[in-house]
Amino acid sequence: MSEYTFLKGSKDWWRQAVVYQIYPRSFADHNGDGIGDLKGIIEKVDYLASLSIDAIWLSPFYPSELADGGYDVADYRDVDPRIGTLVEFDELVEKLHSKGIRVFVDIVPNHSSDQHVWFQEALRSPKGSKERARYIFRDGRGDNGELPPSELSSHFGPEGWTRVPDGQWYMHLFTKEQPDFDWSNREVHDEFLKTLKFWSDRGVDGFRIDVAHALVKQLEPLPTRSSYSLEVMKDDGTDQLFDRDEVHEIYREWRELFNQYDPPRVAVAEAWVHPHRRPAYATNDGLGQAFNFDLLTSAWESAAFQKVIDDNLAFADQTGSSTTWVMSNHDVIRHATRLVIPAGKEGVTFDAENHWYVNHRLDGDLDLAKGLARAKAATLLMLALPGSSYLYQGEELGLPDVTDIPSEQMQDPQWFRGEGKFKSRDGCRVPLPWSASGSSFGFGPGGSHLPQPKWYSRYAVEVQDGTPGSTLELYRSALALRRKLISGEKLSWLPSATGTLWFEREGGWSSITNFTDQEMELPPGELLIASEYISAGKLPANSTVWLKLS
Ligand code: NOJ
Ligand code: CA
Repeated sequence: MSEYTFLKGSKDWWRQAVVYQIYPRSFADHNGDGIGDLKGIIEKVDYLASLSIDAIWLSPFYPSELADGGYDVADYRDVDPRIGTLVEFDELVEKLHSKGIRVFVDIVPNHSSDQHVWFQEALRSPKGSKERARYIFRDGRGDNGELPPSELSSHFGPEGWTRVPDGQWYMHLFTKEQPDFDWSNREVHDEFLKTLKFWSDRGVDGFRIDVAHALVKQLEPLPTRSSYSLEVMKDDGTDQLFDRDEVHEIYREWRELFNQYDPPRVAVAEAWVHPHRRPAYATNDGLGQAFNFDLLTSAWESAAFQKVIDDNLAFADQTGSSTTWVMSNHDVIRHATRLVIPAGKEGVTFDAENHWYVNHRLDGDLDLAKGLARAKAATLLMLALPGSSYLYQGEELGLPDVTDIPSEQMQDPQWFRGEGKFKSRDGCRVPLPWSASGSSFGFGPGGSHLPQPKWYSRYAVEVQDGTPGSTLELYRSALALRRKLISGEKLSWLPSATGTLWFEREGGWSSITNFTDQEMELPPGELLIASEYISAGKLPANSTVWLKLS
């Protein structure tokens, strides 16, 4: 039994887990209303098991008005009736567990939906009431309070304050339908402990914590800000809005709760902070792990990848945690597209004004064949790294982003509020193609809440399932092999040609990636798996190969 198989059953199961992100509305639709649902996921549990993943992470499935794709939660302890019921949730968890797949759910603690009962109570209650004190209500400036309490913009633009009928204003870092909680209020702490206990008691194994660095804010004087860029975010724990040192007190409280379970519940922080501040979110008396998004913002270059890998392994060492790797998620352009966006039109950069992902509008043709080759190479490299890997639904099909959704069918507030500056995130949220034909390409018996392009049929699960050389079969083989190969958590670099990266893992296996557009020499060794067809000792352009070293 390898050390890894042993870890699976232990409290350390998460250290090198592969977690597959499901965006529930776009995964599989059982009842044909065009919206993915829990029954749809239940029907695909065998498919998930066929991927040899260790866990799934469910993006929000809670009741929501969908002002921000479900990240506006109206009730943290229920399922949106369009998506399912708590009974179905329990069934899903049980089915997944029976296949050895663990479950993460998304916790959104910075803000609720404006439809949340607390916010509705706050609206009905007077200024200064305990109902308003759960959020951040303030009087406006100007003679009649007609000016916002401070000059604050929101991530999705424009204003970070919205006025209510009695004249007060409330703060929201995201859309106006996402009022921020006031975490200096003990009631807010207790409410989230209740929510974490609720899902832990239902058998949930882990939590993904949304905007984990924003909860604690310094509100005296009120923050003013027109940019959320890392360049203006202080990196010493004293920024007014983000990454304040006190935020970790919250997570220490959560950890006490997590440790009451066997195995302890785990968590991963979504925290866009200065890299050297990331380890603080990954301590074992805090959340335990933090997302590292550096590969998302990295150019397809060996030196850039090597630096990201070295830096993040060093950060993980600081706390004894393991790092996380992400190539795609529901917020960014899928990596099969992103990796061929020409320089200067990068898919994911920070916008200095808005501190949000800038998905540049793509004009002109992209070389999607090269994009797929790079995506497969990047994934194989990622899966060979120590730490846990997060996959996003559909990447196992090699899906490119959908870049031509008509404006009137877009759903993403980033599109509507961004005044045309940002590409919408809907392109990576289009429902999956399960079959080559039929209504919504097998997504469900009805339509699809976002339009699917005709070319989706080529990428369908049905087409790739059992087909040698398909992206799906590559993912399946790589994930199954990873389970057998992984033992320790060390990586040692091996010397290799410029434009390539070669590293060894314990147990005498290695991964080599060619980042260039030219074929290179393949070092000697037994071929374990390759992202492209290999012939005559050559390492193809834009490819990764795992080799057993002799
Ligand atoms: C990060 C989530 O990933 C994103 O989808 C969402 O818009 C923001 N947090 C706000 O909750
Ligand atoms: Ca449905």
